[in-house]
Order: sequence, then C-alpha cells, then structure tokens
Amino acid sequence: MSTTAADTLRDEVRARYAASALSVESGGGCGCGETSCCGEPETASFGNALYSVDERGELPETAVLASLGCGNPTAVAELRAGETVLDLGSGGGIDVLLSAKRVGPTGIAFGLDMTDEMLALARRNADEAGVRNAIFLRGEIEAVPLPSASVDVVISNCVINLSTDKPAVFAELGRVVRPGGRLGISDVVAEDRLGQAERAERGSFVGCIAGALSVGEYTAGLEAAGFEDVAVDFTHEVADGLHGAIVRARRS
Ligand SMILES: C[S@@+](CC[C@H](N)C(=O)[O-])C[C@H]1O[C@@H](n2cnc3c(N)ncnc32)[C@H](O)[C@@H]1O
Repeated sequence: MSTTAADTLRDEVRARYAASALSVESGGGCGCGETSCCGEPETASFGNALYSVDERGELPETAVLASLGCGNPTAVAELRAGETVLDLGSGGGIDVLLSAKRVGPTGIAFGLDMTDEMLALARRNADEAGVRNAIFLRGEIEAVPLPSASVDVVISNCVINLSTDKPAVFAELGRVVRPGGRLGISDVVAEDRLGQAERAERGSFVGCIAGALSVGEYTAGLEAAGFEDVAVDFTHEVADGLHGAIVRARRS
C-alpha cells in the first residue's frame, strides 16, 4: 500500500471512530450502520452483546454503549493480580476498565488509541467507574509509546484488522511483551481460502472486514515477531468466510 493510500485510510478510520465516540457522548449508541463501523452494537456479532450481564453491570453505561469489538478478550486473557496489561485500540475503554479490575491495585491497564474523541470518552468512563489503575495513551498501535519488555499481556478487540501496517503492529507486539508474556486478542480473521479481493468484496476497511488477515497470515506474522504456540480460533461468522476469532500466543 502506498504511503498516501495508507494515510487516507487511517484518516477515514480516525474520523469514523471519532464520530462513534461523539454519538455515544450525545446519548446514542455507535451511531453508524453495518458498513461504517465494526457492525451494529445490538447484533450478536459485534459490540456489547459479547459481554456477560455481570461484566456490563460493572461499568458505566457509556463504556458499554461504546463497545465496538468483535469478542471479549478479557475473558480469554486469564489476567492475574499485579499484571501490566496493554489494550491496543482501546476505544471507549470497556476492556481496559475490565482489565484494571482484574489486575487490581497492584497492576496497571494501559489503553492505547489514536482518536482523541475516544480517549476523552474512555477517560471519562474511568473516572465514572472510579478506576484508578487505568491509563489511556494517545498513539498508534504501529509505534507503541511504552518501553520494551514492559507488558505482561496484550489484549485488543477488533483493531488490528484496521491497521494499514500490520508487520509494524506485530513488531511492536514482539518488542513490548516481556519474554513469557502473552496475547489474548479478538479480531476479524479470514479463512485462508479468501484472497484480498474476496475479503474486500464482503465489507469495508473501516467496517473491520476488508483489512482482515487470514489465519495463515496472522500466524506467520506473530511467529516472525517472536511468538510461539499461536492459536487462532473462530468464534462466530461475521461474513462469508470471515469470522470473529480469538488469537492467543506466548512470547518466546
Ligand atoms: C472497532 S473500534 C474498537 C474499540 C474497542 N477495542 C472496543 O472493543 O470497543 C477501533 C478502535 O481502534 C482505534 N484505532 C484504529 N486503528 C488504530 C491505530 N492504527 N492506532 C491506534 N488506534 C487505532 C480507533 O480509534 C477505535 O477507537
């Protein structure tokens, strides 16, 4: 992808999720249709329907309403007290707040996002929830503003498919996760039979479909970045040949 095309796509992604954040702030939900964000939040494929009633009850309504993910990474990351967690593309903060509660006062949960409106929403949600060990950072997942080997667990929910430079994201995962640390990521992932054009036929880039990696691409990218025991498990189909999936791996 040329630099100009990548910059244009990134600006579209930022604008789309800024609009989603503002819609939640003004009392709506995601505020966009099937093709313009990661699905409609009311469906079982995307959004807060993927969290348990108990989890939703732990959080402010705007954190729940802002949920635009395609899974529930905190449910698979097996977080422990005292751990440092990083959420790539933290949006309204739902997974950061749940993680902060799981790791407790001796741990810390960082959320990283490039969209100012989402960061503002997430910080307000953390205040409202009374969560003190959540820190929201402005930046891009292709250049994580944290030191090397400083993170025990990286989680992410429906964001890596939106990156215009996935090798850079994987390289950053390999850099920030400490040896023995782990990943618990929800994302849209394509069956290996689908080429790039077939993925693009099934949905837009900003809608989390056209930029999805295949199982083979995900696995090879993580292995090249220093991860082992990579597992990609489909959870639910979101389009023909494209699935919500859980990606797990351990840093060598
Ligand atoms: C589909 S939403 C998911 C938000 C959140 N993870 C959730 O489950 O509700 C995508 C989020 O990722 C952010 N994002 C997309 N690409 C990014 C990038 N390259 N760097 C940082 N943030 C990014 C957007 O600003 C948006 O908040």
